[in-house]
Amino acid sequence: MIYAANWKMNGSTKFVNSILSEIKQSIAPHIPLGSKIILCPPSIYSSAAVMFCKNMPVEIGAQDCSSHKDGAYTGEISADMLSDVGLEWVILGHSERRQYHNENNPLLFEKLLLAQTAGLKVIFCIGETHQQYLNGTTKEVLMQQLSILCTPDLIDLDYIIAYEPIWAIGTGVVPEFQKIEIIHQFIKSHVSEKTNRNCDIHVLYGGSVNPENANQLKSLSDVDGVLVGGASLDPEKFKQICL
Ligand code: PGA
Repeated sequence: MIYAANWKMNGSTKFVNSILSEIKQSIAPHIPLGSKIILCPPSIYSSAAVMFCKNMPVEIGAQDCSSHKDGAYTGEISADMLSDVGLEWVILGHSERRQYHNENNPLLFEKLLLAQTAGLKVIFCIGETHQQYLNGTTKEVLMQQLSILCTPDLIDLDYIIAYEPIWAIGTGVVPEFQKIEIIHQFIKSHVSEKTNRNCDIHVLYGGSVNPENANQLKSLSDVDGVLVGGASLDPEKFKQICL
C-alpha cells in the first residue's frame, strides 16, 4: 500500500516539525514492509522534510514543478532542483493545478518529460467533474488525461496514477466503492494496453479519504494506495488511515 499525503498550501515551520515528529514516532515504525509513505509538503519545507526523514521509510515529493528546464521564469521551481535537494516524487496534473492554473495536456506533457529527465517519480492525477460523472463520460475524460502518459517519449518515466474524482476532493463525498473498483481496473487495463507496462501500474484513490472510509478503500482490489489531502494534516487521522 502507498500512503501519499498532499499537504497543499498548509502549514508552518512549527507545524511541519510537529507532524514529522509524530510520523516518525507513531506511524513510520509500524508501516508494514512493502508499504510506503510519500509526503508532499509545500516546496519551501521540502528540504527540511528530506533531512528529517533520512533513514525513515518515508519519501518526500513536491506538489508541482515548472514546465521549463531553467532560465528566466520568476517564481518557478524546476524538476532538476527538486531532485537536487533530495526529493524523489512530484505530483503532476492535480485538479487544483488544472483548474486554477489552466494546466492542460501539452503543458503537463512538458512537465512529465522534465520529471523523467530529472529522475523524479510522478504521482499523475486524473479525475472527472461531477457533471462528467453524471453524464457517464468518466472513462472518456480519463482516457484523454492519460493519453500523454502513454506516449513512447515517456517510456522511462517511473509513475503511479492517482484517480481523484474532482467532486470528491475536499467534499466528504466518495463515489460508490464498486465504481472506484471498476474505474481502477479500467485505468490499469487501458494503460497496459497503450504501453508495454503490464505488471507495474499502480493506481491510488484520492478524494475525501478519511479514517472512516480508509479500510474499505484499501480493501478494494486494484486500489494500491491512497492520496490524502485534508486528513493528512491531522497526524492522528493520517495514522488511522495508514495503520
Ligand atoms: P482531500 O484531497 O483528501 O482533502 O479530498 C485530496 C487531494 O486533493 O489530493
